[in-house]
Amino acid sequence: MIDVKVAKTELEKVANLEQLESFFQQYLGKNGSITLAFKQMGSLSPEEKKSLGQELTEAKNQVAEAYEAKQKELSIEQINAQLNADIVDSSLETAHVDQGSFSLLTNIRRDAEEVCKSMGFIIEYGTEVVTKFENFESVNIPLTHPATEMHDTIYLQDKDLSGENLILRTHTSSMQNYLIQKYGLPLKAVVPSRVYRYENMDAHHDVMFYQLEGIVVDKNLSVAHFKDMMEKLLSALLHKKVETRMRPGYFPFVEPGFEIDARYEIYNQQTGKKELSKRIELVGAGMIHPNVLKNAGIDTNEWWSGFAFGIGISRLAAMRYGIKDIRYFTNGDLRFAKSFA
Ligand code: PHE
Repeated sequence: MIDVKVAKTELEKVANLEQLESFFQQYLGKNGSITLAFKQMGSLSPEEKKSLGQELTEAKNQVAEAYEAKQKELSIEQINAQLNADIVDSSLETAHVDQGSFSLLTNIRRDAEEVCKSMGFIIEYGTEVVTKFENFESVNIPLTHPATEMHDTIYLQDKDLSGENLILRTHTSSMQNYLIQKYGLPLKAVVPSRVYRYENMDAHHDVMFYQLEGIVVDKNLSVAHFKDMMEKLLSALLHKKVETRMRPGYFPFVEPGFEIDARYEIYNQQTGKKELSKRIELVGAGMIHPNVLKNAGIDTNEWWSGFAFGIGISRLAAMRYGIKDIRYFTNGDLRFAKSFA
């Protein structure tokens, strides 16, 4: 006969799903004792069959029920063990990793781009390697002109289609011709990008620096429009109300040409009073020379006029943050970089 008690005590000893499986085989499987007991009933009389059958069924139900309960219990245990093994302790300290950040120049350039976009300028970067035509002749600088040396140009060995050596652009004005041809007129575009000059490096000069070139062409634009726009633009770039002064300046691609100086209110800590800063030369500028428009295929008999300007982004950044030496922008000194991260 099947002793349910014995089976249950045995079940209590079962510690994992494997042992549970052998328990099942031992009692309830094909050759398990309960299954065999049922089979052996064939030779009994109907009465015996009836009473024994009932007893056996009762025993079978009890064992199966206990088996299922144990199975549930072991499965839950197994899941919990798995979950415990998978726990990640997010409070554990990991090895310290420095996070990168954008350089100050990149941030200033992007800031300038946002300002220009909000004022309706198209933004283009152009290429840094250009032909002598693009850099000089297209903006009214003949190749014989001392300006080709004035800029202290860096020449490359590679040549353009006409056999002239390619150069690194010395100013973003090299984009003026391209922009007029690409977008046509009226035009309002800026080029916030890198330029190169063969310079002796010092606190104020670097072989690479960023310029923000602007070109605006429309019908009947005057110097008054220009001055007003420059004050708005510089104020937005420097985050201060800026006052400008335009002095005569010479650039072959503008007529008349200007140097634009900026000043703004500062707080004098010694006197405790507000005063105006010194005037700082920030922009080369002027009204676009008709030859520049002609070179780009514009009919100058029509009343197109325009202005262009070149702002030194590095100088702007140096002014905004009081940086005395512009070489810090690019020399990779992490102490400098991190202080603006
Ligand atoms: N390209 C001039 C420079 O690099 C700046 C400039 C731009 C002047 C546009 C006039 C008009 O110095």
